[in-house]
Amino acid sequence: MPLTEYFRKIAKETETWLDRLVPPEDAYPPVIHQAMRYSLFAGGKRMRPALAVAACEAVGGLAGAALPFAAALEIIHTYTLIHDDLPALDDDELRRGKLTLHIKFSEAAAILAGDALLTLAFQILADRALFPGAPAELLCDLARETAHAIGSAGTIGGQVVDIEFERVEEPDPAALEYIHTHKTGKLIAMATRGGGMLGGGDEGQLNALTEYGRHVGLAFQIIDDVLDVEGDEKTLGKKPGADQRKRKMTYPSVAGMKASREKAADLIDRALAAIEIFGPKGAPLADLARYVAARRL
Ligand code: IPE
Ligand code: IPE
Ligand code: MG
Ligand code: MG
Ligand code: MG
Repeated sequence: MPLTEYFRKIAKETETWLDRLVPPEDAYPPVIHQAMRYSLFAGGKRMRPALAVAACEAVGGLAGAALPFAAALEIIHTYTLIHDDLPALDDDELRRGKLTLHIKFSEAAAILAGDALLTLAFQILADRALFPGAPAELLCDLARETAHAIGSAGTIGGQVVDIEFERVEEPDPAALEYIHTHKTGKLIAMATRGGGMLGGGDEGQLNALTEYGRHVGLAFQIIDDVLDVEGDEKTLGKKPGADQRKRKMTYPSVAGMKASREKAADLIDRALAAIEIFGPKGAPLADLARYVAARRL
């Protein structure tokens, strides 16, 4: 199946799950559910769900086994975007081609919708009825590892250092790598690892998926930095030039555009090497990795 079709199919299935899992807009108090849905259904790429499902299938699992987890990942990812855009963080006004939540609704609504989304994700992961056949112990591991990936030793740690290094002129490659592997890489590696867990992968397979996810995750954020320099608003659905405006430490600012693209390409090669063990079953993961390096969105 061509990548675009594979992507579209998983995105559609994830959105069906999202619609089922998130309270309807008119559920009391409506403003919070409207806000959650406004950001969730604004049209993201659904890259993390695609990675989770592809990883599940790579180890021989059925896509359906990973879909509620894929939806939970997209819910978590959307919360990180809402909070990332807040005035206290990146102070952005455009996201997924629409006004950011704090501008469309209010800052309070954006903070609280982020909180509610994050909480909902763990309600989903703890709901055994959504994962028929999955051992309770596995779901417990999945929830704990997901929490670790996005907490102060993961996404949040990366976001903290990202902000600390605003306006720092002296290039610090080690800090930069910490920022990118944590604010973005950890959740992406969790997507592939968690998809593999739900597919019944063994330890060797899970290690391969984790390694693949780490490389793809870092490459993904390097290309995000590159696109912030050379992408256009219409394609990205967000305002380019945001990093320079906030004087962020990024791969282009530290290493330049050419070296940034080369580094991303090298990481994708390593990701591809990590999944060789899956043979033809790893083809969608390989396509996704190549897409990350070549993407314009
Ligand atoms: C944007 O993520 C934030 C980063 C971690 C770079 P995506 O590029 O996956 O955003 P959406 O989900 O498609 O909007
Ligand atoms: C965001 O990185 C990473 C997270 C949301 C955790 P960026 O700040 O570069 O993402 P964009 O460019 O706003 O999407
Ligand atoms: Mg940011
Ligand atoms: Mg940002
Ligand atoms: Mg960015």
